[in-house]
Amino acid sequence: MGAMFGRREVLAGLGATGLGAIWPLAAPAAAERVVRTLDARVVRRRLLGRDVALWLYGGRLPGPPLVLREGQTLELRFTNRLPEPTNLHFHGLRIPPTGRADNIFLEIPPGESFTYEWTAPVGEAGTYWYHPHRHGLIATQMWRGLAGGLVVLGPHELDPQSPLARADDRLVVLRDVALAGAELAPHAPRDWHKGKEGPWLLANGRVAPVLRARSRLVRLRLVNAANARSLRLARADGRPLVLAALDGHLLAAPQEVEELLLVPAQRADLLLAMTPTERVKLIARHYNRGVPTPRLHSSRVLEILPPPADAPAVPLPRVLAGHRPPPGPVMRRRTLTLAMFTLNGRPYRPGRVDIRAQAGTVERWRLVNVGTMDHSFHLHTWFFRPVSRNGRPWPFDCRLDTVNLRPGEVVEIDIPFVRETGRTVYHCHIAEHGDRGMMGTIEVGPALPWSAPVSTDAICAFPRRR
Ligand code: C2O
Ligand code: CU
Ligand code: CU
Repeated sequence: MGAMFGRREVLAGLGATGLGAIWPLAAPAAAERVVRTLDARVVRRRLLGRDVALWLYGGRLPGPPLVLREGQTLELRFTNRLPEPTNLHFHGLRIPPTGRADNIFLEIPPGESFTYEWTAPVGEAGTYWYHPHRHGLIATQMWRGLAGGLVVLGPHELDPQSPLARADDRLVVLRDVALAGAELAPHAPRDWHKGKEGPWLLANGRVAPVLRARSRLVRLRLVNAANARSLRLARADGRPLVLAALDGHLLAAPQEVEELLLVPAQRADLLLAMTPTERVKLIARHYNRGVPTPRLHSSRVLEILPPPADAPAVPLPRVLAGHRPPPGPVMRRRTLTLAMFTLNGRPYRPGRVDIRAQAGTVERWRLVNVGTMDHSFHLHTWFFRPVSRNGRPWPFDCRLDTVNLRPGEVVEIDIPFVRETGRTVYHCHIAEHGDRGMMGTIEVGPALPWSAPVSTDAICAFPRRR
């Protein structure tokens, strides 16, 4: 062997094998429980023409998709076959942050197993993902390959009358990668400051894969599983992107945007109306996040070939989630500053509770990036409704769990602390920054009967409509 693979050869070789990298989603049978096993292990896998040692879930890059129906309980027996401790985080899901659910304070030692168990919340179907969350080891474990998509299906996908049910539904986990010789490039000291990036963009483990649409309507569930790379996505033909959901939550109605900045950990569901003749190419434009970023060797993210000529027409839905009332009156305000390796001036300390909140209340947080590069804010368990950026109202109603701030920016968010209680974290989702201290602990206590003027039902009014 010992063959050298230049950029052109890699692209040509991958183009030929790219078909099939992006499988359509399959719904699990309608049962109360879904029982699955998953492990994290060290394997050698073909990547960019080399056999590279990676750390993978189920031996796959990305990890196998976890697909559930709303209301289904997942029983996931997880085994750690890595040489160091790890655990799982189910990013974006409003499930308990405690016990056997989304408990990131657990530590599963090498060689041991742990069974996670939680129920996919009803009314919150969407695109999520899973990745390791052992503090201090998150960035290197993710960089080595540990991440996978997680999809909850709901009435929009399962009711055969819904246009979304007739869409060609594809999960696409994006990340970048860099090799040094025949192995994955290790973290260099400066990577902890910048966040680790590489010049190759992978969509489901391949460079610029090609897929054949099976329907005139394609739904792309994009997950940015990169450690640090922000993706500025657009169509190569210059036409607008049609957004259906952000961070797992359907928008009121499809929303057209010229381009989309998808920062690490964010998800976006795109709807593409295909014609029988045109191919659609998705590209990633260069984005300046305040630190030098290696340019991508290819701006192509993926390419979609037109569906068969006899594929039935599927209308673009006019309404998705429909209008949702704002979460309710704000009862408490806080300011949180983000800077290199600190939140509110303090680095993370395990065990210290930085914020105490109460279930059944709505808080408005003012996030301020006082640093010199982009940072993102991510809160576990409770999603939020962005209110404004730099004093200007948010352009359209949405729910997010991760939001980006450029240097100097101020973003206000409303967080309804609905239902779940317990202790978890919020942090910058540039994985290296979180590991180095841009993380804090929040503890949400139960609603107090004498001080809970907002009922959780009112906060939780997310009508489900087509
Ligand atoms: Cu993807 Cu603490 O999160
Ligand atoms: Cu998370
Ligand atoms: Cu950061």
